[in-house]
Amino acid sequence: MSARIIDGVAIAARIREQLAEEAQAFIKRTRVRPGLVVILVGDNPASQVYVRSKRKACLDLGWYSDVIHLPADATQERLEETIDKLNADPMVHGILLQLPLPDHLNEQGLLQRIRPEKDVDGFHPINVGKLVLGLPAPVPCTPLGIQRLLIEEHIETAGKFVVVLGRSNIVGKPVASLLMRKGSGGDATVCVCHSRSENLSSITRQADILIAAVGRPRFVKAGWIKPGATVIDVGINRVNDPDSPRGYRLVGDVDFEGAKAVAGAITPVPGGVGPMTIAMLLHNTLWCAKNLSA
Ligand code: GUN
Repeated sequence: MSARIIDGVAIAARIREQLAEEAQAFIKRTRVRPGLVVILVGDNPASQVYVRSKRKACLDLGWYSDVIHLPADATQERLEETIDKLNADPMVHGILLQLPLPDHLNEQGLLQRIRPEKDVDGFHPINVGKLVLGLPAPVPCTPLGIQRLLIEEHIETAGKFVVVLGRSNIVGKPVASLLMRKGSGGDATVCVCHSRSENLSSITRQADILIAAVGRPRFVKAGWIKPGATVIDVGINRVNDPDSPRGYRLVGDVDFEGAKAVAGAITPVPGGVGPMTIAMLLHNTLWCAKNLSA
C-alpha cells in the first residue's frame, strides 16, 4: 500500500481563489484594500525566500504589500520605531516580523509591540490567550493551514489521537491548542512530545494523526508510524545535494520514502504544509482588514 499524497499546492490555490473573491466584495463595499507589511532583519537566506513569497502572494491578489528590510545590526529601538509607524498606518492591516531575529534583539518585546489587531501571525500574548480560550483572533498561519488541510481532505480529528512532535511557539504549542478546541477540525485528543520526551516512537505509533515539527531532517522513520495514519510534515530542512543545481535540496522532518509505504495519507516537502501557511497568511490579513474596518 502507498499513502495518498496530500497536494497542498492545489488546496492552497483553491483557498486563494476563494479569498480573492471574498476580498473583492470587501474592497467594493468599504474601498479598503487589505495591506500586509513584512519586517525582515538581516540576510538569512531561507527567511528571504519566505518573505518574497509572502509579499508576492499579496500582490497577486492586488492587495497592498511591502517588505521593510533592515540590516542585521539594526537596534531594538529602530525595530520599535518601525513597528510603531506600521501600527499607526491605516494602509497596513497586517504586520509580520519574520523570525528568527538576530540574537541581540528581544524577540518577545518586539512581538508584543505589534498591535494585536494587526498581528497576522497570532504571536501576541493576547492572541495566544484568545486561541487557548477559543475566542476569535488571528491564529498562527502554519497551525491554521494544517487544520484546514485536514478539513479539506476530510480527515476526521474529533476523538482522534493526535501526536505533535515539537513544542515551538510557532507550530507545536498553537497546533495543539487549535486541534483540541471544540468544533470542526478540532475535538482531538492531543499529545505534545519534545526533545526530552521518552519512548518517542512508542507514542508516535499510537497516533491517528502525526504532526512533525522538530526541524530535523528525516527524523521520523517508517517504523514510528501506525499503518494507515495521517502524517503532516512541517519540516523544511536544507540538506546538501551535489546533484542539485543549488547544491542543496529541501527535505521534511519525516523520512518520506519510508513513511509513504506505511501511512494512509502524507504531506510532501515541498508542496504540503508550506503553501498552506501562505494561504492562511492571506486569510489572516483579510480577517484583520475586516476587523479593523468594522
Ligand atoms: N519563521 C518561520 N515561520 C514563521 C512564521 O510563521 N512567522 C514568522 N513571523 N516567522 C516565521
